[in-house]
Amino acid sequence: MQNDVVTGIGTSNIALIKYWGKRNEDINIPANSSLSITLDDTLQTKTSILFSDKLIRDSLIINGEEYNLKDTKNEVVDYTIRILQEMRRMAGTNSKALIVSHNNFPTAAGLASSASGSATLAFVAAHALDLNLSPKEISILSRKISGSSCRSLFGGFVAWHKGEKEDGSDSLAEQVVDEHYWPEVIDVIGIVSEKKKRVSTRAGHKHTIRTSELFKIRPEIAERRFGKMVEAIKKKDFETMAEITMRDSNSIHATMLDSYPPIFYMNDTSREIVYAITDLNESEGKPIAAYTFDAGPNAQIITLEKHRQKIVDLVAPIVGSDKVMVSKQGSGPKLLKGESLIDVVKMEPK
Ligand code: PMV
Repeated sequence: MQNDVVTGIGTSNIALIKYWGKRNEDINIPANSSLSITLDDTLQTKTSILFSDKLIRDSLIINGEEYNLKDTKNEVVDYTIRILQEMRRMAGTNSKALIVSHNNFPTAAGLASSASGSATLAFVAAHALDLNLSPKEISILSRKISGSSCRSLFGGFVAWHKGEKEDGSDSLAEQVVDEHYWPEVIDVIGIVSEKKKRVSTRAGHKHTIRTSELFKIRPEIAERRFGKMVEAIKKKDFETMAEITMRDSNSIHATMLDSYPPIFYMNDTSREIVYAITDLNESEGKPIAAYTFDAGPNAQIITLEKHRQKIVDLVAPIVGSDKVMVSKQGSGPKLLKGESLIDVVKMEPK
């Protein structure tokens, strides 16, 4: 398919059992298995890629902005270059690539744009180079570049098995159940801040595992929770799923706080949301919603479709009604036949 444009869409994911801390920092082998929900098109990346010998250099354009591919300190540039290098090596080609991508949400809003961006790029690049890889194999590639992105290669509820091997060949994502199994489960997203974080996720993983004493007990606890979470999902046991989700979010943020010097990703508004959900669950007599926070202050609240309005009404006054989004479960990346963000004759963005 070289010299042809391949276009696809992919989406972000939200972890209920978090990936925090790496056993191998170079190729992102995690300290524990994790589990997430793939989100729908609410947080979507659409990417077109063209590999051609006629291109004299690689280029990357996201939401109309051309990135400087020499700026490897930029996370997006870094994962793009690494995916291209890896894929070209596998395909045995030196062809340069033109990549044009659109996120339908702010790239820097702390909403795992790197997960949807790198999963989608790995997906379209693998197809453009005819690598004939299964989604599990693409998940390994995507994992090496941006850990949590590997879970975005499947829809519904997705597990990332930590694996045992040193080369990471068994550290891959697998679908637990698809998006039709328990479609009532949704994610209410409250954007607390769109500011760039003080400590990058990559630095945070490293700093926590090196300096937190509390972290030493986390992999075992997370692994146990992972098993219980898979069971709860298969049984559609919302209460158990909700409790484990909240405990696991609390747990990674405790290890961040226990790092030395400490890292704070949640802020006062995040904590206000934790209390609001806790009070709501108490007044309902059982958990009907579960908060979870990644490496940032934004809240993601896992609930059931029937409670959607209640949760939106609870979160909106705290963050502002234009800062609340709702996502159902997504189905994983897809190729978009007949669609392209690239003008193949001019070899430039449309
Ligand atoms: O994949 P990374 O390196 O951006 O790390 C993601 C870490 C968390 O979002 C905090 C947890 C997770 O499992 O997604």
